[in-house]
Amino acid sequence: MSTSSETETRPKTRARTSSPRGARLALRDATLGRPDSPALTGVDVDVSPGEVLTVVGPSGCGKSTLLRTLAGLLPPLAGAAEQDGHPIDGPGADRALVFQEDALLPWRTLRANVELPLAIRGLARTERRQQATSWLERVGLAAQIRQLPHRVSGGQRQRAQLARALAGRPRAVLMDEPFGALDAQTRAGMQDVLVEVLHGTGATVVFVTHDVDEALFLGDRVALLGSGRLTAVRDVPSPRDRTAHDDPARVALRRDVLSSLGT
Ligand SMILES: Nc1ncnc2c1ncn2[C@@H]1O[C@H](COP(=O)(O)OP(=O)(O)OP(=O)(O)O)[C@@H](O)[C@H]1O
Ligand SMILES: [Mg+2]
Repeated sequence: MSTSSETETRPKTRARTSSPRGARLALRDATLGRPDSPALTGVDVDVSPGEVLTVVGPSGCGKSTLLRTLAGLLPPLAGAAEQDGHPIDGPGADRALVFQEDALLPWRTLRANVELPLAIRGLARTERRQQATSWLERVGLAAQIRQLPHRVSGGQRQRAQLARALAGRPRAVLMDEPFGALDAQTRAGMQDVLVEVLHGTGATVVFVTHDVDEALFLGDRVALLGSGRLTAVRDVPSPRDRTAHDDPARVALRRDVLSSLGT
């Protein structure tokens, strides 16, 4: 099923609450990578406001490259990267990044870390504190707000990073294997937390993962990368519904995705 004819770029009605707050992200006939070694060519994809697009593909195929391009950290070598129809020409505060590696400032408490994007937004100290506390409560860290990052677990640090990313009220959240370092159970818990905290934010999400089940649980659509191209973008039946795991349509899609990944 990994033919480019199946690549589907039309905007899609989403199961999740839609809102004008989400950014529309697009790559148009884009070549992505470093000037001396392009990783992906001819990439065409549209991510609708509020949509969750998951991205899977073998190691080294260009998943992080695609995400860094949308983040504005790596300009396309050809074609265009756009947000709401305008070229992405650098990082923007309305696009939050969450990476696998821990990016919390080690000398600041979890709450002080989450306050950072709120300070950038110009909120007064009291308001900042109150909102940071509320975000940490939403990700289940009410008891840890005054802890330093090294005093909490890896999963708790990822929760704090998620709180920090969303506290800035971004219009898009770009996530690069954010749960990759977590054990399976913590990971499933984090996926649920992510679904819960995204609800109602309207933010557009591009989520890179190695884990096909994670991609099929979280995504409205899943994009498959391989052999230097975006080979397909597939609709996910019943996204974010754990009970749909065994639905025949989901099982068939899972089989297709795994076979296109060569596993
Ligand atoms: N800083 C860099 N300088 C030069 N080439 C790079 C750099 N980072 C990545 N590459 C190359 O670009 C290609 C795509 O890398 P990328 O990091 O996007 O892959 P990935 O799909 O995210 O892999 P993984 O699943 O291992 O994270 C690879 O061939 C890689 O070697
Ligand atoms: Mg990567």
